[in-house]
Amino acid sequence: MSAPDFQSEIFRRRTFGIISHPDAGKTTLTEKLLLFGGAIQEAGAVKSNKIKKSTTSDFMEIEKQRGISVATSVMGFEYQGCKVNILDTPGHKDFAEDTYRTLTAVDSVIVVIDVAKGVEAQTERLVEVCTMRSIPIIVFINKLDRFGKDAIDLLDEVEQRLKLKVTPLSWPIGMGPHFKGVYSIYKKDLKLFRPSSTTVSEEWASIQNLEDPELDRQVGADFADALREDLEMVSAVYPEFKREDYLTQKVCPVFFGSAVNNFGVKELLETFIEIAPMPLPAKTDLRVVEPTENKFTGFVFKIHANIDPKHRDRIAFVKIVSGTFHRNQNYLHVRQERMMKFSSVTAFMASKKSTVDEAYPGDIVGLHDTGNFRIGDTLTEGEKMNIMGIPSFSPENFRYIENADPLKQKQLAKGIDQLMDEGVAQLFVHQMTNRKIIGTVGPLQFEVIQHRLEHEYGAKCKWEPINIYKACWVELSDPKELEDFRRKKLRSFALDKHQRPVFLADSAYAIQMAQEDFPNAKFHFISDF
Ligand code: G4P
Repeated sequence: MSAPDFQSEIFRRRTFGIISHPDAGKTTLTEKLLLFGGAIQEAGAVKSNKIKKSTTSDFMEIEKQRGISVATSVMGFEYQGCKVNILDTPGHKDFAEDTYRTLTAVDSVIVVIDVAKGVEAQTERLVEVCTMRSIPIIVFINKLDRFGKDAIDLLDEVEQRLKLKVTPLSWPIGMGPHFKGVYSIYKKDLKLFRPSSTTVSEEWASIQNLEDPELDRQVGADFADALREDLEMVSAVYPEFKREDYLTQKVCPVFFGSAVNNFGVKELLETFIEIAPMPLPAKTDLRVVEPTENKFTGFVFKIHANIDPKHRDRIAFVKIVSGTFHRNQNYLHVRQERMMKFSSVTAFMASKKSTVDEAYPGDIVGLHDTGNFRIGDTLTEGEKMNIMGIPSFSPENFRYIENADPLKQKQLAKGIDQLMDEGVAQLFVHQMTNRKIIGTVGPLQFEVIQHRLEHEYGAKCKWEPINIYKACWVELSDPKELEDFRRKKLRSFALDKHQRPVFLADSAYAIQMAQEDFPNAKFHFISDF
């Protein structure tokens, strides 16, 4: 392929994630976007990937979720000349770390907020990760067909709780049973609301001038006047939209609509492909890699084990950062310092999987893996560099893991090793007792681990309680001081999978005390410091 073609392949790619608190409408919005993209033919084709029963352990649900989430992990489609890749993020909060890692592979996000519930806890945490990574954000306020919060109050809430500056690109007219439609501030069009879940037809009235009596005819004089007043206030309070500000995360454009009624989704998609960033550069421990570089670079952000226990192979999801990836070409697996080539390469087009021969920056390919990959691994054409910023987050739930079947010690060790490579949880080795501690984001993971160890590795484990409040990585540049720390805090000292020192604090006070004892120590709650 000639150089200009390669460039235009990059420019036309839009790789993004949709994030929300469960039930805000992420699955519904994804489905409608896929309908517009022609990637699916009917509503209901995308299964919600949430585990509905969160308190009871329901292994069928977990297994189902794993089955579904391979198919819907990445959904690619073509729209108006752009190649759109939607990366799915698990809805269940116990799988939040999976979501955080997926966010390392997206170039932008759409945040869905329920108009009645406003900003919810999980939205806050996910947006925090996006902000940390400077990922451009678009906000979609959903369910305008229901009564909810006032648009201005909601924008205030978004600004305050998510610490984002916003600027509305559309504005709702009424809500709930009185929802009339939205006025596109961006395109200066009025779109009237006609509830419908399946049609993709649109009804628009061009209202270039708000004084146009057509507006009154379309929505009624009261609503027309309220809209005029609102828009006057909007133009006084919110900054004028500039793409540059959105790309640099200075401002987040906001849209209103109703995903289930397929309302406001098309303009969201069309504006999205117009303004959203092409694949972003990536930081490595050597230098920044630009997507337009000719040589291939990619990294593993997700590993998915085969749900069939008889086939213990896995799919490693690789985000292409630069260059063109070719099937059957030799690439350097940087961590393992060896060349590897891949004959089984999967591309993801909506819920279908197909084999591809080449892929471009922004694309995600699935590589068949027999246990060579770990989350965060980098592939290059020979340069020895590692993509940075695939973080582990300080877990919040901890238990000792013990072998419950002495004959299966090896299977247990292998199972733990591979599940940790997949990023299901984190392993710490307590330095005083040499016992293994598993740390997870949510309690459900312990059950997933136990279940998978038994069914996939034929090993049995049991859990024992341990009182840990937080595990944080300790940074001390002076090796003598670190040794001193290890000695004095031995009861709370562990090593992570990469042999990095970790402080297992049993309370917030313990961290405070450790900080006072070792003023030069830095305590990190995210591994990529
Ligand atoms: P999630 O992936 O963010 O968890 O949310 P999901 O799309 O599954 O939507 C959660 C619920 O909200 C669904 O209802 C869905 O139909 C509904 N919903 C989504 N968008 C809108 C909207 O614009 N207006 C209204 N009124 N409802 C909306 P459910 O009853 O939980 O599921 P279902 O039986 O309808 O599938």
